[in-house]
Amino acid sequence: PLVTTREMLLNAKRGGYAVTAFNIENMEMAQIVICTAAELKSPVIIQTTPGTVKYAGMDMLRAMVAVEAAKADIPVAIHLDHGDSYDRCMEALREKYTSVMIDGSKLPYEENVALTKSVVEEAKKLGIDVEGELGTVSGKEDTHEVKANEQIYTDPEQAKDFAERTGVRSLAVAIGTAHGFYKGEPKLDFDRLKKIVELVDVPVVLHGASGVPDEAVRRSIELGICKVNFATELRAALTKGVREALKDEGVYDPKVFMNAGKKYVAETVKHKIAVCGCGNKA
Ligand code: 13P
Ligand code: ZN
Ligand code: NA
Repeated sequence: PLVTTREMLLNAKRGGYAVTAFNIENMEMAQIVICTAAELKSPVIIQTTPGTVKYAGMDMLRAMVAVEAAKADIPVAIHLDHGDSYDRCMEALREKYTSVMIDGSKLPYEENVALTKSVVEEAKKLGIDVEGELGTVSGKEDTHEVKANEQIYTDPEQAKDFAERTGVRSLAVAIGTAHGFYKGEPKLDFDRLKKIVELVDVPVVLHGASGVPDEAVRRSIELGICKVNFATELRAALTKGVREALKDEGVYDPKVFMNAGKKYVAETVKHKIAVCGCGNKA
């Protein structure tokens, strides 16, 4: 069924594993991610960025995920990823998203606090939890871009202050990951993560996990990460299958090439669930 992220994230925090959060772009991705998570009895968060929302509409995305979630015997949440304004977050609440992120990370600190707090206040009335972000994750996530030289790592003390003052129920941090793939291997600041988790009570979220070696994701979870976001690898997996299928010029039925893409998405989802340890936790 469709649920909020409250219980699944607190369970993960208590259990020492992380819930996988997968970005989807279309019906096929919603179907295959939820079906695969159900097969592995894993709780799952389905996320849509503002870019995806502009492409498909929150009403459509919410409806698709709700239909699949109703058939699945696992907790499924529909989450607005990188909410880019107060209004966008209010729209998500109206459309009955079960989780919302407000990303004020590019704003000066006090403005980020004020914006995040204002979203939390409204979400709270509906029993919906809010993810905030402090520090900037570099790279490009659809329309959301942070240049490498603008990257700011999360300050642990400030993270504590931010979580307390805003009332967020989860916090995205910047410890060296980036959205998209990497040139070379990303170097994560595990000491910083350790300090953040020590000081911050709410579940801490790792963004930009595509391209991060499994080892490093596992280590982050050991240190207390409770939610891991994957977007780019799923997009690439779908496209790989579609591309392969379309090499055959006789293929023109979307069902055929989409099924080829879904196969690779399923493999990626299975692997990430294994890495994050959320299988059999539903
Ligand atoms: P990747 O695209 O690197 O997987 O990042 C995902 C993410 O952080 C979505 O918010
Ligand atoms: Zn992100
Ligand atoms: Na990444």
